[in-house]
Amino acid sequence: MLQNAEKNDTPVKSQEEYTSLLHTVLDTRYRGRPRAFVHTYGCQGNVSDGERMKGMLAEMGYTFTDTAEDADLVLYNTCAVREHAEDRVFGNVGALKNIKAARPGMVVALCGCMMQQPRVAEKIRKSYPFVDLVFGTHVIHRLPELLYRTLCGKGRVFELPDEAGGITEGLPVVRDSSFKAFLPVMYGCNNFCSYCIVPYVRGRERSRTLEAVLDEARSLVEAGYRDITLLGQNVNSYGKDLETPVSFAQLLREINAIPGDFRIRFMTSHPKDCTRELLDAMASCEKVAKHLHLPFQSGNDRVLKEMNRRYTREQYLELTRYARQVMPELSLTSDVIVGFPGETYEEFQDTLRLVEEVGFTSLFTFLFSPREGTPAAKMPDPVSREEKGKWFRELTDLQERIAEKRNQSLVGKRFRVLVEGPGKKEGLLAGRTQGNVVIEFPGEGSLIGSFVDVQVTQALAWILRGQMES
Ligand code: SAM
Ligand code: SF4
Ligand code: F3S
Repeated sequence: MLQNAEKNDTPVKSQEEYTSLLHTVLDTRYRGRPRAFVHTYGCQGNVSDGERMKGMLAEMGYTFTDTAEDADLVLYNTCAVREHAEDRVFGNVGALKNIKAARPGMVVALCGCMMQQPRVAEKIRKSYPFVDLVFGTHVIHRLPELLYRTLCGKGRVFELPDEAGGITEGLPVVRDSSFKAFLPVMYGCNNFCSYCIVPYVRGRERSRTLEAVLDEARSLVEAGYRDITLLGQNVNSYGKDLETPVSFAQLLREINAIPGDFRIRFMTSHPKDCTRELLDAMASCEKVAKHLHLPFQSGNDRVLKEMNRRYTREQYLELTRYARQVMPELSLTSDVIVGFPGETYEEFQDTLRLVEEVGFTSLFTFLFSPREGTPAAKMPDPVSREEKGKWFRELTDLQERIAEKRNQSLVGKRFRVLVEGPGKKEGLLAGRTQGNVVIEFPGEGSLIGSFVDVQVTQALAWILRGQMES
């Protein structure tokens, strides 16, 4: 579904002109509506960028397809956060060589965080000559112009400025879901955690104005969206850079006041900026899901310091205690890195102890991946991959036991669930509690996109089973 995401702050007129020129260009070139295959890797922020690029492509006349084989435009929106993510992209781009040889009219375009790294752009330039267009994270709003230059100019187009010029409001958007939506509230990151590439490829923090966010939230609620996730790498610093500063807690209260039956989520919160004011706002806003994704990364103070996270284990634990005091039903989830350079097994055990003490609903666990250009990539890293793999399994086994126990304690309880789609087994639907736990239950497909009450009857390792209640 195509909607106007936000009201205009910055005019996008010249891009509109390119959009209308492209109608003619594409008509002549493809005779009929051209098809685009847009694939996004990485985080929800990237998915949200992908939805806006799809909005622009729809306005140019593109329809969407699920495979590269029958596409006239292939656009890969890439992620650079770990080496594995990059390897997958290179593999998938390599596979396009033969497809493009068979369909020379096809345009291959790459964008997103990976492209923002000069070594990657250089590799694409030299070793992937069939890639026509490469652009970075700061120019996605210029997609019409870039595509026009690719189709009508001579040679390949590489557009990779270092800095964002500001935030372009008013971009159209084609969302992947008709009832769950991502709403970016800020872009970029100022934190420079020593392992992380994001600040280098996404630039400094920029907040959207309160009005722009509220306008988009209102239009989502009016369009029937039931689950709105506010996005930013560190939403707790939302609004600090605005002309009239606003806190994230205030933003939550304002969105909560929009009339309608919907749920508000947000991610990600950085523990160093997660304030009691925010936790109190969460507790008092009935539409805000009682789910907090609060990455701790490591349970050891020396490792946290080396990571440049700027909080201690005790400060993290104190935050979770306060959060549970004001929201006893709170579901906590987190991110953890295993095998940071120089981490010892004893230090890793502090991570295990923290996981045990907090009792997370679920964890995203990652093996440290060196990212060129970050301080951690230069740190001595003596522990073997095999050894780190063992620690990793120890952590995931522990979390599995904790999640199973937590799930068992939910049997007999009743939850308001947003039905998201069919379950894994035939005849079952799958939905999500406000704590972000998946629950499957028998029901009609017509309920997808609405809230229902479900009583938990059985706890499996990762999901719950239940029965709908009237
Ligand atoms: N801004 C969020 C925060 O600070 O919590 C995280 C964003 S990052 C895209 C998601 C997760 O990827 C991080 O929380 C971290 O656990 C993981 N990550 C980032 N860089 C990594 C690296 N070099 N190796 C392994 N995991 C990494
Ligand atoms: Fe990366 Fe740290 Fe920024 Fe999160 S807060 S995006 S981990 S630098
Ligand atoms: Fe990846 Fe960029 Fe997100 S590096 S995790 S897509 S901000």
